Amino acid sequence: MMEYSDKVMEHFMNPKNVGEIENASGIGTVGNAKCGDIMKVYITVENGIIKDAKFKTFGCGAAIATSSMATELIKGKTIQQALEITNKTVMEALDGLPPVKVHCSCLAEEALHAALWDYAQKNNIVIEGLKKPVDDIEHLHNV
Ligand code: FES
Repeated sequence: MMEYSDKVMEHFMNPKNVGEIENASGIGTVGNAKCGDIMKVYITVENGIIKDAKFKTFGCGAAIATSSMATELIKGKTIQQALEITNKTVMEALDGLPPVKVHCSCLAEEALHAALWDYAQKNNIVIEGLKKPVDDIEHLHNV
């Protein structure tokens, strides 16, 4: 039986920021062909600050918990600060994930990057340090 932390359970049972944002500044969709899970992240950016973030995740419990935590963590942050939020940051904030579920947090990181990338494209800007996201994380981070 897999052990999940209380925080993972809490964010799985009562996820924050579920839904979509109309006229979002950026939208990122990333999937993982291996498990079939898909995550969609919406962000609203105003004056370089992420004012709002929402998600829709068609995936496992850990994917939902990491989407919930990742969107919580980026709200109110600058784009550069949001870029520093990695899957490790999200996992730490959730008090860890079982090893077989680490890839779920990579999905959250990549979906967030995809939303930032979309925002940059729409506004014709370059976000320093942001690499073009993949739409399938299967070949990423050795997941
Ligand atoms: Fe695929 Fe969790 S099992 S994201």
